[in-house]
Amino acid sequence: MKILVTGGTGFIGSHTVVELWNAGFTPVIMDNLDNSSILVLDGIEKILGFRPQFYQENCNHPDSFRRIFEAEKDISGIIHFAAHKAVGESVSLPLKYYRNNIGSLISLLETASEFNIQNIVFSSSCTVYGEPSSLPVDETFPIVPAESPYGNTKQICEEILRDCHTSGMNFKSLSLRYFNPIGAHPSGFIGELPLGVPGNLVPFVMQVATGWREKLSVFGSDYNTIDGTCIRDYIHVVDIAQAHVNAVQYLLKNKEERLYDWINLGTGKGSTVLEVVKTFEQVSGLPLNYQMVSRRPGDIEKIYASTEKAEKVLGWKTRLTLADGLADGWRWQQSLGPKPSLA
Ligand code: UD1
Repeated sequence: MKILVTGGTGFIGSHTVVELWNAGFTPVIMDNLDNSSILVLDGIEKILGFRPQFYQENCNHPDSFRRIFEAEKDISGIIHFAAHKAVGESVSLPLKYYRNNIGSLISLLETASEFNIQNIVFSSSCTVYGEPSSLPVDETFPIVPAESPYGNTKQICEEILRDCHTSGMNFKSLSLRYFNPIGAHPSGFIGELPLGVPGNLVPFVMQVATGWREKLSVFGSDYNTIDGTCIRDYIHVVDIAQAHVNAVQYLLKNKEERLYDWINLGTGKGSTVLEVVKTFEQVSGLPLNYQMVSRRPGDIEKIYASTEKAEKVLGWKTRLTLADGLADGWRWQQSLGPKPSLA
């Protein structure tokens, strides 16, 4: 059974392609390589022993989808990862984010409807919850106004899916709200690709450890947490990928004509920034150069997921730990060799 994976050469997309194949699906990749590399296909091929069908196409154009749906004929579902995701850049270039992230979903839905493709899994984010009033965060928590155009595109895309459902369109769709994805495939053949200075904690930790960057700045030491640093729910990318497989299976076997729902993907456990640093030092055996600096504007103090709905609806929960994610990410980082010019 064929599943189209937009953004299938990206970080979470590439791992999902692998898990789809392991579960008996045939992944078809659509990616314009805007923020990834054709070399990711080599990594996927090394793991799977074959190269999945790949289309270098831009999701923002309905005709790109039409070409793929016509060529592949029998696509049963779509997992939509393709999107710009740099929070800071979205503040300075909002139109780039609105055009791409929202335009892509609209193109996808219009053409999926034309070709009668019902099952859609959308890549969303826990950023929709903002600073939650209590923890853990479950799916009944309110959505708060987004802090960035990037976050706003996730909210708008969720609303588009909900509105399509309300209108009676024939979709079965799920928004999966990721907490903080980390790690890499345990083979070391695929992982997160370094492009520019990482905004996220774990890639930055890896790049300091490998000598690409001098020092990690820990943003804020006066939060109301055990060690004063922020708490997040770090989830292994292979667990996230597996959740997408369960989501597709859930939609395919669901007897309802149409549905829309949203589900958190997290571990249910929060870790502070310093716990991440210490765990990394343990798994790598290396001391990490870091300094405490002032808070990063816009950061929330603590957030971690309730995992109940994912367990109940998808029959899914995480199997891998923070230490697994850091060890696998470190193996991947070491495989990258010297600092590439774009990193
Ligand atoms: C960030 C994005 C969020 C996105 C998520 C994806 C912001 C404000 N939010 O969330 O929209 O969905 O990534 O994974 O950018 N930290 C440091 N030093 C660093 C980098 C991070 O101390 O060099 C700290 C942060 O202050 C935070 C924690 O590490 O406490 C995690 O940061 P990050 O990886 O950027 O994730 P989020 O802030 O959760």
